[in-house]
Amino acid sequence: MTFKPAEWPRKLRSQEWYGGTSRDNIYHRSWMKNQGLPADLFDGRPVIGICNTWSELTPCNAHLRDLAERVKHGIYEAGGLPLEFPVFSPGESSLRPTAMMYRNMCAMDVEEALRGNPLDGVVLMVGCDKTTPALLMGAASVDIPAIIVTGGPMLNGKWRGTDVGSGTALWQMSEAVKSGDMTQDEFLEAEQSMSRSPGSCNTMGTASTMASMAEALGMALSGNAAIPAVDSRRRVMAHVTGRRIVDMVKDDLKPSDIMTRKAFENAIRTNGAIGGSTNAVIHLLAIAGRVEVDLTLDDWDVLGRDIPTIVDLMPSGKYLMEEFFYAGGLPVVLKSLLDGGKLHGDALTVSGRTISEEIAGVRNWNDKVILPMDKGLTQQGGIAVLRGNLAPNGAVIKPSAASPHLMKHRGRAVVFEDIDDYKARINDDALDIDETCIMVLKNCGPRGYPGMAEVGNMGLPPKILKKGITDMIRISDARMSGTAYGTVILHTAPEAAIGGPLAVVRSGDMIDLDVEARYLHLDISDQELEKRLAEWQPADTDVTGGYEYLFRTHVQGADQGADFDFLIGCRGKAVGRDSH
Ligand code: FES
Repeated sequence: MTFKPAEWPRKLRSQEWYGGTSRDNIYHRSWMKNQGLPADLFDGRPVIGICNTWSELTPCNAHLRDLAERVKHGIYEAGGLPLEFPVFSPGESSLRPTAMMYRNMCAMDVEEALRGNPLDGVVLMVGCDKTTPALLMGAASVDIPAIIVTGGPMLNGKWRGTDVGSGTALWQMSEAVKSGDMTQDEFLEAEQSMSRSPGSCNTMGTASTMASMAEALGMALSGNAAIPAVDSRRRVMAHVTGRRIVDMVKDDLKPSDIMTRKAFENAIRTNGAIGGSTNAVIHLLAIAGRVEVDLTLDDWDVLGRDIPTIVDLMPSGKYLMEEFFYAGGLPVVLKSLLDGGKLHGDALTVSGRTISEEIAGVRNWNDKVILPMDKGLTQQGGIAVLRGNLAPNGAVIKPSAASPHLMKHRGRAVVFEDIDDYKARINDDALDIDETCIMVLKNCGPRGYPGMAEVGNMGLPPKILKKGITDMIRISDARMSGTAYGTVILHTAPEAAIGGPLAVVRSGDMIDLDVEARYLHLDISDQELEKRLAEWQPADTDVTGGYEYLFRTHVQGADQGADFDFLIGCRGKAVGRDSH
């Protein structure tokens, strides 16, 4: 990749506000000076936004104000003017109905804040799951120089001498309580041990996956993804990120220069190698849409099919992000992919260097955590994209988190019409279900829930757990947490709420799954399927206003990234008018 830096010095965008002696120039500068900013800070130097998803309602990002101070040090040091600002922060652990419903709102907030303000570049401060894609989406649509710094993962959870992985252990313990293998008191005791420090989930869940995706895309400095939140090197990373964005502005190195088709191919392959979250599928499709790169669901299957999962982290494996960092972190994985001919080494990164230049000379310090390519947890670590009459627009499964014996299976459908129906009946011992059945959950897609909740890994019926069975096939139009596991088929499209075939599955129907053949089939005749689809009626909704109305009206399918139809693409940085 050949990138030609812009001439420097030159007049920057921020000078449209701050340069000159007009009434408006004075107005823009004067009010800023109420913060005690000396006059020479408006002399034409790069003005850098620090776009912060800090929030006490997003505990994974609650330390980002502190980290932002380190970014400011770096920006000042490099001769820029840092201006920190908050944006809506979709926190995974608390926000209802689901943080995913607000990813696009956050992206809109970011986009308009960047375009409307006198900024020449931006540092995107993220951590919790949706914050990373949201800020990348917003920045991509404006296309001013941008760089990510993540908050980093929490320290390992510790309980009774064992490591406790965020989310993964919660799902396991919840099932253990249902099966009688753990008491409720033990579960409550373990709660105290799960989240021991600031930071995001310590598993290879969605937050760690998206931090890795940002690094693999080239949008973060090398090594950013894995540094623990409380390690002093996280602060160093923030500091040098602040320095770097100033030079990116001088060079005019933009997201569209970095997030090319090659960068997305690198990220997809990296996701297979790290055993990353299925949520990355939706987020990368949405980010690609903003930067106008042609990326499809099928790219995930084609590019990831022969990538072994070489990172032995929960939920696919056994270690946590701390060990991943100590082993060398993502650069080691990227180096393995490069050496195996699976990475475009010439893809550009925020450093101004190529990704192969960034990772030259890295070493693996623990090959039990980051495995050799020929000794992966699975040789097919990517995301499998299934198709058939049940998912004409595709459905996904993460083979590395699934049970090998269920990858080819024919089973009787046990249908739950929505999440309330599931909750009402799942604990009933009279439920007609055994471990050979296939659990089907409808109306949990982008429009159906709304927001596409992480409920696809629905818990098994207690009567089956008590038999020692821990996995069954589950199919839905929902997502699942990146920390979750199981033979779970997700993102079935079109979703049930808009009349996709999933909507007309009935209990007792037979379903055929063959992951190797990428096949998902409802075993009824074409005529019967057509008849059922013709008879299908959408559910009434009483939502006629507010953000939920906007969301339900404009969200696209999971196979297209679940972005709003009117937000796809890059609209650039031009504002058009002055404020007065
Ligand atoms: Fe925020 Fe997992 S809940 S990163």
